[in-house]
Amino acid sequence: MASDTLTITDNRTGKTYEIPITDGTIRAIDLRQIKTGPDDFGLMSYDPAFLNTASCRSAITYIDGDKGILRYRGYPVEQLAEKSTFLETAYLILFGELPTAAQLEDWKDQITHHTILHETLKQLIDAFRYDAHPMGIFISTVAAMSTFYPEANQIHDPDNRMHQIIRLIAKVPTIAAFSYRHSRGLRYMYPDNDLSYTGNFLSMMFRMTDAKYEPNPVLERALDVLFILHADHEQNCSTNAMRNIGSSHVDPYSAMAGAAAALYGPLHGGANEAVLRMLNQIGKKEHIPAYIERVKRGEVRLMGFGHRVYKSYDPRASIIKRVADEVFSVTGTSPLLDIALELERIALEDEYFISRKLYPNVDFYSGIIYQAMGLPVTMFPVMFAIARTVGWLAQWQEMLTDSEQKIARPRQVYIGSGKRDYVPIDAREQHGQAIHR
Ligand code: CMC
Repeated sequence: MASDTLTITDNRTGKTYEIPITDGTIRAIDLRQIKTGPDDFGLMSYDPAFLNTASCRSAITYIDGDKGILRYRGYPVEQLAEKSTFLETAYLILFGELPTAAQLEDWKDQITHHTILHETLKQLIDAFRYDAHPMGIFISTVAAMSTFYPEANQIHDPDNRMHQIIRLIAKVPTIAAFSYRHSRGLRYMYPDNDLSYTGNFLSMMFRMTDAKYEPNPVLERALDVLFILHADHEQNCSTNAMRNIGSSHVDPYSAMAGAAAALYGPLHGGANEAVLRMLNQIGKKEHIPAYIERVKRGEVRLMGFGHRVYKSYDPRASIIKRVADEVFSVTGTSPLLDIALELERIALEDEYFISRKLYPNVDFYSGIIYQAMGLPVTMFPVMFAIARTVGWLAQWQEMLTDSEQKIARPRQVYIGSGKRDYVPIDAREQHGQAIHR
């Protein structure tokens, strides 16, 4: 008779164990009972990079990587990208349900009234060198916010948590825009409460001498869609960092600075920046085959391709391709788009990419859109971070209210020396290379 259990026979001892299966998962701690004797610590699972380990139970985002499905709280991302707004989707992700009209108005009002940065934070941004990477400024400013709001460490108080969540979602566009203006030597533009979330962001980025900035509605909407697509993606590297750091019960600003740092890497949120550099390096369509050969020889990676979870077309990439057409109808087309389209075409016909199920991911086209909007490549990961703030905070809150969660602390398989006695300095043999300076 079928039962939801796994029977394991330990061939070292001949003993048999029956382990429950729930939601297609066994609990790693159930392996601990499997021992060769009383001194044995018990069996562990070894899973570098969490290839096959669920670290939490989550009700926020659902992904089916083989079918190319992404849903927030059950709603397909395609429907949200078509019908919702970023702030409405943020509400959905955080609270679990779509807001009523009154709830949405109140939510937008709350976010709009927390967009201004403390003047001292502005001075902090000023202290960075003129060529500081805006992502470095972003990470540092978010971290510094913990010193401005020390009450944020009351992480078990739901009202307090929500206050910090609103502050962060409201202020990240301001931090991002100020970091950009600093790198351009431009005066900071304060938030304009009459504009939408993305309209205000464009105003803070690009307003020059005009008294009032009027965002182009196509670009404003395109940015909103891009933010919806980046809002959450379940247990990715930066979200895992957010949960991991947050599990020590530190305040959300410190945890989110760590999450943003994880996002900065070229294999994660820094990939859109890397895609643009790659497309520029390729330069011409004729150079694509040679580049593909380098990828196949393992010399370089095709940035914006491949995903740990998606083994088919990333659903976000298909939506972004459509957004690109809308944006280019306003900004004029980008020569890099032609290279990207041709690169995609060639790669998708190549056995190397087919056999490894490597398809364009969310970052393959987003950078080209951002560039067409006038953003420098260094701002691309920052754009990702603005949107992902919502996901990080929703996941952080879910982690804190999950009674099963504790401080995150993986085990290791120790492979170093056994016990040995201290050797006096004049009795030691040289090992390894001298340290280079
Ligand atoms: N170009 C060339 N080969 C690749 C690529 C790529 N972009 N991605 C994976 N492979 C190959 C890899 O060499 C390996 O081949 P083999 O089996 O012969 O050794 C195979 O495909 C499996 O790769 P993996 O490194 O084991 O896969 P992973 O799940 O650890 O890595 C990834 C996922 C996203 C880090 C990787 O695909 C990658 O480096 N992509 C480029 C960077 C990128 O676009 N990142 C953005 C991800 S989407 C946005 C986000 O979530 O941040």
